[in-house]
Amino acid sequence: MLIRPRRLRKSPIVREMVAETRLSKDMFIYPYFVIPGKGAENGIDAMPGVSHFSSDMLVRDVEKSLKLGLNKVLLFGVGEQKTDDASSAYDRNSVVANAVRELKSAFGNDLFVVTDVCTCAYTTHGHCGIMHDDTVHNDQTVDVLAKMALTHAQAGADMIAPSDMMDGRVLGIRKVLDQNNLENTSIMSYSIKFASAYYGPFREAADSAPNKGDRKAYQMDFRNPNETMREAVLDEQEGADILMVKPALAYLDIIHRLKENTDLPVACYNVSGEYSMVKAAAEKGWIDEQKVVMENMYAFSRAGANIIITYHAREILEKGWM
Ligand code: PBG
Ligand code: ZN
Repeated sequence: MLIRPRRLRKSPIVREMVAETRLSKDMFIYPYFVIPGKGAENGIDAMPGVSHFSSDMLVRDVEKSLKLGLNKVLLFGVGEQKTDDASSAYDRNSVVANAVRELKSAFGNDLFVVTDVCTCAYTTHGHCGIMHDDTVHNDQTVDVLAKMALTHAQAGADMIAPSDMMDGRVLGIRKVLDQNNLENTSIMSYSIKFASAYYGPFREAADSAPNKGDRKAYQMDFRNPNETMREAVLDEQEGADILMVKPALAYLDIIHRLKENTDLPVACYNVSGEYSMVKAAAEKGWIDEQKVVMENMYAFSRAGANIIITYHAREILEKGWM
Protein backbone atom coordinates (compact mmCIF):
# COMPACT_ATOMS: atom_id res chain seq x y z
CA MET A 1 0.00 0.00 0.00
CA LEU A 2 1.45 3.35 -1.05
CA ILE A 3 -0.73 5.65 0.97
CA ARG A 4 -1.32 4.99 4.64
CA PRO A 5 -3.09 7.87 6.46
CA ARG A 6 -2.53 6.06 9.77
CA ARG A 7 1.21 6.95 9.61
CA LEU A 8 0.35 10.49 10.75
CA ARG A 9 -1.81 9.22 13.61
CA LYS A 10 0.90 7.02 15.08
CA SER A 11 1.83 8.95 18.23
CA PRO A 12 0.70 11.97 20.25
CA ILE A 13 3.66 13.97 18.94
CA VAL A 14 2.86 13.43 15.29
CA ARG A 15 -0.86 14.01 15.92
CA GLU A 16 -0.09 17.34 17.59
CA MET A 17 2.17 18.30 14.69
CA VAL A 18 -0.44 17.76 12.00
CA ALA A 19 -3.48 19.04 13.93
CA GLU A 20 -5.40 21.35 11.59
CA THR A 21 -7.46 23.11 14.26
CA ARG A 22 -6.14 24.73 17.41
CA LEU A 23 -7.93 26.45 20.24
CA SER A 24 -6.76 29.38 22.30
CA LYS A 25 -8.18 30.90 25.47
CA ASP A 26 -8.18 34.20 23.58
CA MET A 27 -11.17 32.91 21.60
CA PHE A 28 -13.47 32.66 24.61
CA ILE A 29 -16.07 35.12 25.87
CA TYR A 30 -17.62 34.15 29.23
CA PRO A 31 -21.27 35.15 29.95
CA TYR A 32 -22.37 36.50 33.36
CA PHE A 33 -25.84 37.23 34.81
CA VAL A 34 -25.92 40.36 36.99
CA ILE A 35 -28.62 41.08 39.59
CA PRO A 36 -29.31 44.10 41.83
CA GLY A 37 -28.18 44.09 45.45
CA LYS A 38 -25.06 43.15 47.35
CA GLY A 39 -23.36 39.98 48.48
CA ALA A 40 -25.43 37.70 46.27
CA GLU A 41 -24.19 34.69 44.37
CA ASN A 42 -27.09 32.36 43.59
CA GLY A 43 -26.77 29.20 41.52
CA ILE A 44 -29.12 28.82 38.56
CA ASP A 45 -30.99 25.48 38.70
CA ALA A 46 -31.24 24.91 34.98
CA MET A 47 -27.57 25.75 34.39
CA PRO A 48 -25.32 23.87 36.84
CA GLY A 49 -22.10 25.82 37.47
CA VAL A 50 -23.62 29.18 36.43
CA SER A 51 -24.80 31.81 38.93
CA HIS A 52 -26.51 35.14 39.34
CA PHE A 53 -24.09 37.67 40.80
CA SER A 54 -24.63 41.05 42.40
CA SER A 55 -22.04 43.44 41.02
CA ASP A 56 -19.72 43.33 44.07
CA MET A 57 -19.59 39.53 43.88
CA LEU A 58 -19.25 39.75 40.12
CA VAL A 59 -16.04 41.76 40.51
CA ARG A 60 -14.65 39.05 42.80
CA ASP A 61 -15.56 36.28 40.40
CA VAL A 62 -14.24 38.08 37.33
CA GLU A 63 -10.94 38.45 39.17
CA LYS A 64 -10.77 34.63 39.28
CA SER A 65 -11.60 34.44 35.57
CA LEU A 66 -8.85 36.93 34.78
CA LYS A 67 -6.29 34.87 36.70
CA LEU A 68 -7.13 32.01 34.34
CA GLY A 69 -6.65 34.20 31.29
CA LEU A 70 -10.38 34.56 30.65
CA ASN A 71 -10.46 38.29 29.95
CA LYS A 72 -13.67 38.85 27.99
CA VAL A 73 -17.11 38.83 29.60
CA LEU A 74 -20.65 39.22 28.26
CA LEU A 75 -23.10 40.76 30.73
CA PHE A 76 -26.85 40.15 31.03
CA GLY A 77 -29.03 42.15 33.42
CA VAL A 78 -31.63 40.29 35.48
CA GLY A 79 -34.19 41.26 38.10
CA GLU A 80 -34.84 44.85 37.03
CA GLN A 81 -38.24 46.47 37.06
CA LYS A 82 -40.36 45.31 34.12
CA THR A 83 -42.47 47.88 32.24
CA ASP A 84 -44.13 48.11 28.84
CA ASP A 85 -41.59 50.67 27.63
CA ALA A 86 -38.52 48.80 28.99
CA SER A 87 -37.31 52.03 30.58
CA SER A 88 -35.23 50.23 33.22
CA ALA A 89 -33.10 48.88 30.35
CA TYR A 90 -31.75 52.32 29.49
CA ASP A 91 -31.54 53.83 32.96
CA ARG A 92 -28.07 55.35 33.53
CA ASN A 93 -27.97 53.29 36.71
CA SER A 94 -29.27 50.02 35.32
CA VAL A 95 -27.81 46.90 36.85
CA VAL A 96 -25.67 46.37 33.74
CA ALA A 97 -24.41 49.97 33.47
CA ASN A 98 -23.43 49.93 37.15
CA ALA A 99 -21.69 46.57 36.79
CA VAL A 100 -19.74 47.84 33.77
CA ARG A 101 -18.54 50.85 35.78
CA GLU A 102 -17.48 48.67 38.71
CA LEU A 103 -15.67 46.18 36.49
CA LYS A 104 -13.92 48.90 34.55
CA SER A 105 -12.80 50.73 37.67
CA ALA A 106 -11.47 47.45 39.11
CA PHE A 107 -9.75 46.07 36.00
CA GLY A 108 -9.53 48.81 33.35
CA ASN A 109 -8.23 47.54 30.04
CA ASP A 110 -7.21 44.17 31.45
CA LEU A 111 -10.85 43.20 30.99
CA PHE A 112 -12.90 43.48 27.79
CA VAL A 113 -16.55 44.05 28.65
CA VAL A 114 -19.36 43.16 26.26
CA THR A 115 -23.01 43.87 27.09
CA ASP A 116 -26.11 42.18 25.71
CA VAL A 117 -28.61 44.70 24.40
CA CYS A 118 -32.23 43.56 24.29
CA THR A 119 -35.44 44.40 26.13
CA CYS A 120 -36.85 40.96 26.97
CA ALA A 121 -35.63 40.93 30.58
CA TYR A 122 -37.04 44.46 31.07
CA THR A 123 -40.55 44.23 29.61
CA THR A 124 -43.72 43.03 31.32
CA HIS A 125 -44.58 40.80 28.33
CA GLY A 126 -41.03 39.41 27.91
CA HIS A 127 -40.72 40.16 24.21
CA CYS A 128 -37.56 41.58 22.66
CA GLY A 129 -39.08 44.97 21.92
CA ILE A 130 -41.93 47.43 22.34
CA MET A 131 -45.34 45.87 21.65
CA HIS A 132 -48.10 47.41 19.56
CA ASP A 133 -51.18 45.20 19.77
CA ASP A 134 -49.71 41.77 19.18
CA THR A 135 -46.53 42.68 17.32
CA VAL A 136 -43.15 44.05 18.27
CA HIS A 137 -42.82 47.53 16.74
CA ASN A 138 -39.52 47.46 14.86
CA ASP A 139 -38.42 51.09 14.62
CA GLN A 140 -39.59 52.15 18.04
CA THR A 141 -37.67 49.20 19.47
CA VAL A 142 -34.52 50.26 17.61
CA ASP A 143 -34.73 53.65 19.37
CA VAL A 144 -34.93 51.94 22.76
CA LEU A 145 -32.04 49.60 21.92
CA ALA A 146 -29.89 52.54 20.87
CA LYS A 147 -30.61 54.31 24.17
CA MET A 148 -29.75 51.14 26.07
CA ALA A 149 -26.51 50.69 24.11
CA LEU A 150 -25.59 54.30 24.82
CA THR A 151 -25.90 53.88 28.60
CA HIS A 152 -23.70 50.76 28.46
CA ALA A 153 -21.10 52.45 26.26
CA GLN A 154 -21.06 55.57 28.43
CA ALA A 155 -20.48 53.34 31.46
CA GLY A 156 -17.40 52.01 29.69
CA ALA A 157 -18.49 48.88 27.80
CA ASP A 158 -15.97 47.93 25.11
CA MET A 159 -18.48 46.21 22.88
CA ILE A 160 -22.26 46.19 22.45
CA ALA A 161 -24.02 42.98 21.46
CA PRO A 162 -27.61 43.48 20.25
CA SER A 163 -29.60 40.22 20.46
CA ASP A 164 -33.12 41.42 19.60
CA MET A 165 -33.24 40.77 15.81
CA MET A 166 -34.95 44.04 14.84
CA ASP A 167 -34.20 45.29 11.32
CA GLY A 168 -31.77 48.19 11.19
CA ARG A 169 -30.71 48.03 14.82
CA VAL A 170 -26.97 47.91 14.13
CA LEU A 171 -27.19 51.16 12.16
CA GLY A 172 -29.46 52.72 14.80
CA ILE A 173 -26.98 51.87 17.56
CA ARG A 174 -23.93 52.87 15.51
CA LYS A 175 -25.38 56.30 14.77
CA VAL A 176 -26.20 57.08 18.39
CA LEU A 177 -22.80 55.88 19.60
CA ASP A 178 -21.02 58.00 16.99
CA GLN A 179 -23.10 61.08 17.81
CA ASN A 180 -21.91 60.71 21.38
CA ASN A 181 -18.21 60.39 20.56
CA LEU A 182 -18.24 56.66 21.21
CA GLU A 183 -16.94 55.73 17.78
CA ASN A 184 -14.45 53.31 19.35
CA THR A 185 -17.11 51.18 21.02
CA SER A 186 -17.52 48.14 18.79
CA ILE A 187 -20.64 46.19 17.89
CA MET A 188 -20.89 42.41 17.84
CA SER A 189 -24.22 41.70 16.21
CA TYR A 190 -26.26 38.59 16.91
CA SER A 191 -26.65 38.61 13.12
CA ILE A 192 -27.94 35.12 12.59
CA LYS A 193 -30.07 34.30 15.58
CA PHE A 194 -32.59 31.52 15.20
CA ALA A 195 -35.91 31.09 16.98
CA SER A 196 -34.67 28.15 19.04
CA ALA A 197 -35.80 25.87 21.84
CA TYR A 198 -32.16 25.76 22.97
CA TYR A 199 -32.64 29.07 24.84
CA GLY A 200 -34.86 27.36 27.44
CA PRO A 201 -32.50 27.41 30.45
CA PHE A 202 -31.40 30.98 29.69
CA ARG A 203 -34.96 32.25 29.81
CA GLU A 204 -35.26 30.80 33.29
CA ALA A 205 -31.92 32.37 34.25
CA ALA A 206 -32.80 35.78 32.80
CA ASP A 207 -36.50 35.59 33.65
CA SER A 208 -37.10 36.66 30.05
CA ALA A 209 -39.56 34.15 28.57
CA PRO A 210 -42.41 35.79 26.62
CA ASN A 211 -45.64 35.46 28.58
CA LYS A 212 -47.58 35.05 25.34
CA GLY A 213 -46.64 33.78 21.90
CA ASP A 214 -43.11 33.09 20.70
CA ARG A 215 -40.24 34.95 19.04
CA LYS A 216 -40.76 33.67 15.50
CA ALA A 217 -41.88 37.05 14.15
CA TYR A 218 -38.39 38.44 14.71
CA GLN A 219 -35.88 35.60 15.25
CA MET A 220 -34.94 33.51 12.21
CA ASP A 221 -36.57 30.35 10.85
CA PHE A 222 -34.03 27.52 11.12
CA ARG A 223 -35.18 26.12 7.79
CA ASN A 224 -33.74 29.10 5.87
CA PRO A 225 -29.99 29.01 5.22
CA ASN A 226 -30.06 31.51 2.31
CA GLU A 227 -31.82 34.10 4.42
CA THR A 228 -28.99 33.93 6.98
CA MET A 229 -26.60 35.45 4.46
CA ARG A 230 -28.98 38.34 3.77
CA GLU A 231 -29.03 39.12 7.49
CA ALA A 232 -25.23 38.97 7.65
CA VAL A 233 -24.77 41.31 4.67
CA LEU A 234 -27.14 43.86 6.20
CA ASP A 235 -25.25 43.89 9.48
CA GLU A 236 -21.94 44.33 7.65
CA GLN A 237 -23.38 47.27 5.71
CA GLU A 238 -24.77 48.79 8.91
CA GLY A 239 -21.33 48.79 10.51
CA ALA A 240 -21.14 45.64 12.62
CA ASP A 241 -17.58 44.74 13.65
CA ILE A 242 -18.21 41.07 14.45
CA LEU A 243 -20.98 38.77 13.21
CA MET A 244 -22.44 36.05 15.40
CA VAL A 245 -24.30 32.80 14.78
CA LYS A 246 -26.56 31.51 17.54
CA PRO A 247 -27.13 28.74 18.64
CA ALA A 248 -23.91 26.98 17.61
CA LEU A 249 -24.01 23.19 17.79
CA ALA A 250 -27.02 22.62 15.57
CA TYR A 251 -25.83 25.35 13.17
CA LEU A 252 -22.26 24.42 12.26
CA ASP A 253 -23.24 24.59 8.58
CA ILE A 254 -24.27 28.22 9.03
CA ILE A 255 -21.04 29.12 10.87
CA HIS A 256 -19.08 27.57 8.00
CA ARG A 257 -21.09 29.31 5.33
CA LEU A 258 -20.80 32.67 7.07
CA LYS A 259 -17.04 32.28 7.45
CA GLU A 260 -16.73 31.68 3.69
CA ASN A 261 -18.83 34.75 2.91
CA THR A 262 -17.44 37.45 5.17
CA ASP A 263 -14.07 38.93 6.04
CA LEU A 264 -15.31 40.02 9.45
CA PRO A 265 -14.53 37.92 12.53
CA VAL A 266 -17.18 35.26 13.13
CA ALA A 267 -18.46 34.46 16.61
CA CYS A 268 -20.72 31.63 17.72
CA TYR A 269 -22.83 31.37 20.86
CA ASN A 270 -22.83 27.94 22.48
CA VAL A 271 -26.17 28.60 24.19
CA SER A 272 -27.73 27.58 27.49
CA GLY A 273 -29.61 24.52 26.21
CA GLU A 274 -26.49 23.16 24.57
CA TYR A 275 -24.60 23.68 27.82
CA SER A 276 -27.24 22.18 30.11
CA MET A 277 -27.68 19.07 27.95
CA VAL A 278 -23.99 18.28 28.32
CA LYS A 279 -24.08 19.03 32.06
CA ALA A 280 -27.13 16.81 32.62
CA ALA A 281 -25.71 13.85 30.71
CA ALA A 282 -22.38 14.24 32.52
CA GLU A 283 -24.11 14.34 35.92
CA LYS A 284 -25.79 11.07 35.04
CA GLY A 285 -22.45 9.57 34.11
CA TRP A 286 -23.60 8.96 30.54
CA ILE A 287 -20.84 10.95 28.82
CA ASP A 288 -17.28 12.01 29.58
CA GLU A 289 -17.80 15.74 30.13
CA GLN A 290 -14.28 16.92 29.38
CA LYS A 291 -14.10 14.99 26.13
CA VAL A 292 -17.54 16.01 24.91
CA VAL A 293 -17.00 19.68 25.79
CA MET A 294 -13.67 19.82 23.98
CA GLU A 295 -15.05 17.97 20.96
CA ASN A 296 -17.74 20.65 20.76
CA MET A 297 -15.19 23.50 21.08
CA TYR A 298 -13.09 22.06 18.25
CA ALA A 299 -16.22 21.67 16.15
CA PHE A 300 -16.97 25.40 16.49
CA SER A 301 -13.43 26.31 15.57
CA ARG A 302 -13.27 23.84 12.68
CA ALA A 303 -16.54 25.21 11.32
CA GLY A 304 -14.97 28.67 11.18
CA ALA A 305 -15.70 30.43 14.45
CA ASN A 306 -12.96 32.85 15.55
CA ILE A 307 -14.74 33.63 18.80
CA ILE A 308 -16.65 31.22 21.05
CA ILE A 309 -19.13 32.47 23.63
CA THR A 310 -19.60 29.63 26.08
CA TYR A 311 -20.62 28.90 29.68
CA HIS A 312 -18.02 26.09 29.62
CA ALA A 313 -15.09 28.52 29.29
CA ARG A 314 -14.38 28.92 32.99
CA GLU A 315 -14.31 25.19 33.70
CA ILE A 316 -12.19 24.47 30.61
CA LEU A 317 -9.50 26.81 31.88
CA GLU A 318 -9.91 25.99 35.58
CA LYS A 319 -9.45 22.29 34.96
CA GLY A 320 -6.83 22.68 32.26
CA TRP A 321 -8.83 20.89 29.59
CA MET A 322 -6.82 22.62 26.85
C1 PBG B 1 -32.18 37.77 24.75
C2 PBG B 1 -31.17 36.68 24.64
C3 PBG B 1 -31.41 35.30 24.65
C4 PBG B 1 -30.15 34.69 24.64
C5 PBG B 1 -29.21 35.72 24.59
N1 PBG B 1 -29.85 36.92 24.59
C6 PBG B 1 -32.67 34.53 24.73
C7 PBG B 1 -33.73 34.67 23.73
O1 PBG B 1 -33.57 35.31 22.68
O2 PBG B 1 -34.80 34.14 24.00
C8 PBG B 1 -29.90 33.21 24.68
C9 PBG B 1 -28.65 32.79 25.39
C10 PBG B 1 -28.63 31.37 25.81
O3 PBG B 1 -29.58 30.58 25.62
O4 PBG B 1 -27.59 30.99 26.39
N2 PBG B 1 -32.59 38.31 23.55
ZN1 ZN C 1 -34.49 39.47 23.89
